[in-house]
Amino acid sequence: MCKKSSILATNFIHTIFILLSLFSTYYVGVVVATSSPPPSSPPPSSPSPSSLDESNVQEATKVIRQFIKGITSDNCGLSKNLTFTNTTNLCKNSKFGCTPVPFKDSLKKKDRLYSIQFDGCGITGKNITIDGFIDKLLDVSIFHANSNGFGGKIPVLSHLPYLFELDLSNNKYNGKFPMNILGATNLTLLDLGFNSFIGPVPPGLFNLQLLALFINNNKFEKDLPSNMGSTPAAFLNFANNKFTGPIPKSIGQASNTLLEVLFLNNSLSGCLPYEIGLLKKARVFDVSRNSLIGPIPRSFACLDKMEYLVLENNEFYGSIPEVVCKLPNLTKLKLSDNYFNQVGTACMKLIQKGVLDVRQNCLFGHPNQKDPKTCAEFLNKPKGCSEYENKMHNYIPCNKTAEYLDSVMSLERVPQPTPTVTYGKLTTE
Ligand SMILES: *[C@@H]1O[C@H](CO)[C@@H](O)[C@H](O)[C@H]1NC(C)=O
Ligand SMILES: *[C@@H]1O[C@H](CO)[C@@H](O)[C@H](O)[C@H]1NC(C)=O
Ligand SMILES: *[C@@H]1O[C@H](CO)[C@@H](O)[C@H](O)[C@H]1NC(C)=O
Ligand SMILES: *[C@@H]1O[C@H](CO)[C@@H](O)[C@H](O)[C@H]1NC(C)=O
Ligand SMILES: *[C@@H]1O[C@H](CO)[C@@H](O)[C@H](O)[C@H]1NC(C)=O
Ligand SMILES: *[C@@H]1O[C@H](CO)[C@@H](O)[C@H](O)[C@H]1NC(C)=O
Ligand SMILES: *[C@@H]1O[C@H](CO)[C@@H](O)[C@H](O)[C@H]1NC(C)=O
Repeated sequence: MCKKSSILATNFIHTIFILLSLFSTYYVGVVVATSSPPPSSPPPSSPSPSSLDESNVQEATKVIRQFIKGITSDNCGLSKNLTFTNTTNLCKNSKFGCTPVPFKDSLKKKDRLYSIQFDGCGITGKNITIDGFIDKLLDVSIFHANSNGFGGKIPVLSHLPYLFELDLSNNKYNGKFPMNILGATNLTLLDLGFNSFIGPVPPGLFNLQLLALFINNNKFEKDLPSNMGSTPAAFLNFANNKFTGPIPKSIGQASNTLLEVLFLNNSLSGCLPYEIGLLKKARVFDVSRNSLIGPIPRSFACLDKMEYLVLENNEFYGSIPEVVCKLPNLTKLKLSDNYFNQVGTACMKLIQKGVLDVRQNCLFGHPNQKDPKTCAEFLNKPKGCSEYENKMHNYIPCNKTAEYLDSVMSLERVPQPTPTVTYGKLTTE
């Protein structure tokens, strides 16, 4: 099973390229600043021996050769033909990325190993682990290893200043959240999806300066930490775990950065916090298949960039707010399998266009609804959003005038659903 690199298929790669080019600039800058006089200055009087810097690739080759000894099989030709573990060849192998940087005390540039791409290699063996491997590659910046047999311990990573991307998705990890990850403070991409991690996720995870955090398809449980919104990540994927409790109100703090968030298929409960309406840049929000209750907060009127709003299979009720159906960039509004009982004209138009799905609700006169008895029983149950019931209906964080709300909508041409970064993470194909 080989997971296609969906990141490459999206504009996320653009961001990564920016980061990488920033990184290269920074990297070269650091090496120049710390290890050699500027090229224009006179040569040093004595040669300064430095076995450490002398051959990064040579050192790395030793570590990699050791790692490869433990492989029993793989489909990237790693264990079959060991010619590449000869120092002069490592950088020529497509799985290893090297970059030339100025060499100590000279104008010459030397290769250094900065990336390892084992995606889809299906590496198996008795003890396939990054322990004793990437923690010994001090310059490693990118380690992508989805769909392999990695497992065991995540080593200390806090001495790897350039570790920016760590993709261990679809491997054999289990046990509690690996706390050594929190020492990798320069990570921008962390993908632990499709493993068997259990237990809660630590609050410290949301203090990392990540751009993308994917922990979907594990067995994580307990409440999401209340500081969740402190993450600067643009892409968050919590799907297909066992998280419980409410969506943290702190989510509103991510208003300047969050683009896509998937909570789907957990056991989340409570009402949607009205702070979600602050997510003015978000284009994907999916809480389907949870146990969430309450009306759709009126603040959703402010989700101007929203494209995929997916609330299906919960216990939401009340009227479907017209302001939500008027959001300008909506391509999917999935509300099926809830208890909504009113729908207005703007929403009716979306139903006709196939944008809004209201099947299995309590909308009498519409096809495919719940049976009236089930609806009556639900409506008679005591329910509500307790202390913030009022804000659910009145809090509108953006300045929308009635004029705007009544403006002619440009929904004549409904765009095709576009692939998104986070949904792409839900498959290993
Ligand atoms: C091993 O790989 C090298 C290139 O890395 C290639 O030149 C050589 O022919 C290969 N040997 C075998 C036996 O496949
Ligand atoms: C590495 O490979 C090159 C070319 O294949 C060869 O000339 C060289 O002797 C090898 N070095 C070692 C240490 O095996
Ligand atoms: C696996 O390898 C790591 C690092 O080399 C070592 O520390 C650990 O003891 C090994 N585990 C087993 C079960 O062999
Ligand atoms: C992250 O990078 C900064 C420089 O930007 C560096 O000072 C810090 O030590 C790095 N973090 C780690 C864990 O190495
Ligand atoms: C939902 O998550 C559970 C694990 O919590 C998983 O077993 C199940 O396959 C998921 N459902 C879907 C449709 O992905
Ligand atoms: C809607 O999406 C289009 C591209 O699909 C974009 O150009 C436009 O700015 C978006 N509008 C809003 C209000 O986000
Ligand atoms: C909303 O915007 C209008 C015009 O742009 C302004 O007059 C009004 O004071 C604003 N209201 C709030 C609550 O910011």
